Amino acid sequence: MTKFLILPLALIFLAAFTPANDPSIPADVQALLDKNGCAACHAMGRKLVGPAWPEIAAKGYSKKKIASLVAKPEPSNWPGYVPMVAQKVPKAEMDKIATWLVSLKK
Ligand code: HEC
Repeated sequence: MTKFLILPLALIFLAAFTPANDPSIPADVQALLDKNGCAACHAMGRKLVGPAWPEIAAKGYSKKKIASLVAKPEPSNWPGYVPMVAQKVPKAEMDKIATWLVSLKK
């Protein structure tokens, strides 16, 4: 009988301990990244025009700082990249994106 319990338990264990920076972006966040054009320049696993999301998260910015950097980029933070164009994002949406970005930090 226990044999039949091991697999489901192992799966539950795996699901519970999958790192927060799983390459999949939650659907609601992805929708905002698409809508606001972020996805054209930023991705999860690799550099596009802009740095990959986990790289940005690794900087350890606060939500407030992220929102301010999106509204007023500081290209000197990213040598070797073209400067990001300032983005206008509705506050509630920016908040959601920033909350997610902060959560990626290992
Ligand atoms: C046209 C391409 C482009 C788009 C669109 C874009 N970014 Fe960027 N982003 C960049 C580049 C290039 C950098 C690195 C250079 C810089 O910060 O100027 C960057 C940097 C960043 C940073 C790090 C800022 C810092 O100073 O460390 C954040 C946060 C960010 N982007 C979030 C966003 C969000 C959120 C959106 C959508 C609202 C977005 N970006 C849309 C190209 C883009």
